[in-house]
Amino acid sequence: MTTPAVQMDWTKLEQVEIQIASWCNRSCHFCPSGTFPTPKEGMTLEMVERIMVQLESVSFAGTIGLHLMCEPLMHKKILEIVQQFRTRLPRAFIRMESNGDALKNIERLGWLFDHGLNEILINCYDSPEQFQRLNRGVLGLRPASGPIWYWNLWRHNPTLPKPQWRVVRVRAFFGTGFSLKNWAGHVEHQRPDPVALPLKLGCDRPFARMHINYLGQVLLCNMDWKYEVVVGDLRIQTMAEVWNAPLLQEYRSHLLVKDREMALCRLCDSGAPAPVQPGYPPADPWVFWRSRWLTWTRWLQRMLGRPAR
Ligand SMILES: C[S@@+](CC[C@H](N)C(=O)[O-])C[C@H]1O[C@@H](n2cnc3c(N)ncnc32)[C@H](O)[C@@H]1O
Ligand code: SF4
Ligand code: SF4
Repeated sequence: MTTPAVQMDWTKLEQVEIQIASWCNRSCHFCPSGTFPTPKEGMTLEMVERIMVQLESVSFAGTIGLHLMCEPLMHKKILEIVQQFRTRLPRAFIRMESNGDALKNIERLGWLFDHGLNEILINCYDSPEQFQRLNRGVLGLRPASGPIWYWNLWRHNPTLPKPQWRVVRVRAFFGTGFSLKNWAGHVEHQRPDPVALPLKLGCDRPFARMHINYLGQVLLCNMDWKYEVVVGDLRIQTMAEVWNAPLLQEYRSHLLVKDREMALCRLCDSGAPAPVQPGYPPADPWVFWRSRWLTWTRWLQRMLGRPAR
C-alpha cells in the first residue's frame, strides 16, 4: 500500500525540544540515559544561534524545551542560553525538566527565572526528604526579578500569558506504583500491565515537535536515545527543509493511519493508557483554601480591570 506524503508548514511548529547537553549526571533504572554513551558535550553556542535565528525569523510563539534526553543544568552556559532565547523569542514559552541535583544552591533556581525561564519541573527521584528539602527551598525563594508561582502550592496555572509565567513544579518520583513508559524499547518493560506491540495508535509528536540533539541532528522523536531515526541535520539544513524531510513525511503518513510498524515506533508503548502516574503532592495542607482564595482574587482583579499577578 502506498501512503500519502504529509507536508507541514514549519512556521506552525508547536514545540522545539533541544538536547542542550549530551548527558545526565544520573542513571535512573527506568531511563536509557548512559546506556548509549556519547561524549559529554554541551550544544555549541553556534548551534544554539543557528536554531535561535531561524525561530526568530518566524517570531516563534511555541514551546522551547531544553531537557531533551539530558540533564539541562549540566550545560555550563545554561543561564546565558535561557536569556538569549528569552530576549530573542519574547513570545515563546521556555521550560525545562531537571533532576534538581544542580540546584543544591537554590538561588540558582531564582537565577534561571531572572534570565527568563517560564517553567521548571523538578523531579525528585530519591526520597520524601529530598522532596521536602526542595519544597522548602522553593517556598523560601525570592528571585531578584519578582515572585515565582509554585504549582504544588497553588495547584492552579497562572492566568497571565504563558511567556510571562514563572512556574516551578516539584514532582515526587520515588517509591512504587508508577506507570513508566518503555522509551521505545530502550528500557525494560516498565508497565504493570504489559501491552501488545506495535500499538495500533497514531502519535502526534512528529506532527507537532522538532527534536534536536546536541549535535544539531533532528530526530524523529524524544524516545530516540540511539539517534536511530535522524530525519535531518541543522548543521547543513534549515529547519524549514528538515520539517518536510521525506523520512519524516513517511513516518507521519504511517502514524496518520495508526501504523507503528516502523523502526522505533514498533517497540514504543507511548500513548497506551497509563493507570498510574507520578504525582505532584501539595506542599502545604492549606492548598485547597489557598487556591480558592487565589481564584477569587483573580476574578475580582479581572472585574476591576487590573492585571492578575
Ligand atoms: C529523560 S528526563 C530528562 C530531564 C531530567 N534529567 C529529569 O530527569 O527530569 C525527561 C522526563 O522523562 C521522565 N522520565 C524518565 N524516565 C521515564 C519513564 N520510563 N517513564 C515516564 N517518564 C520518564 C523524567 O522524569 C523527566 O520528567
Ligand atoms: S530520568 Fe533524568 S535524571 Fe534520571 S537518568 Fe534520565 S535524564 Fe537523568
Ligand atoms: S510512536 Fe513512539 S517512537 Fe514513534 S514517534 Fe511516537 S513516541 Fe516516537
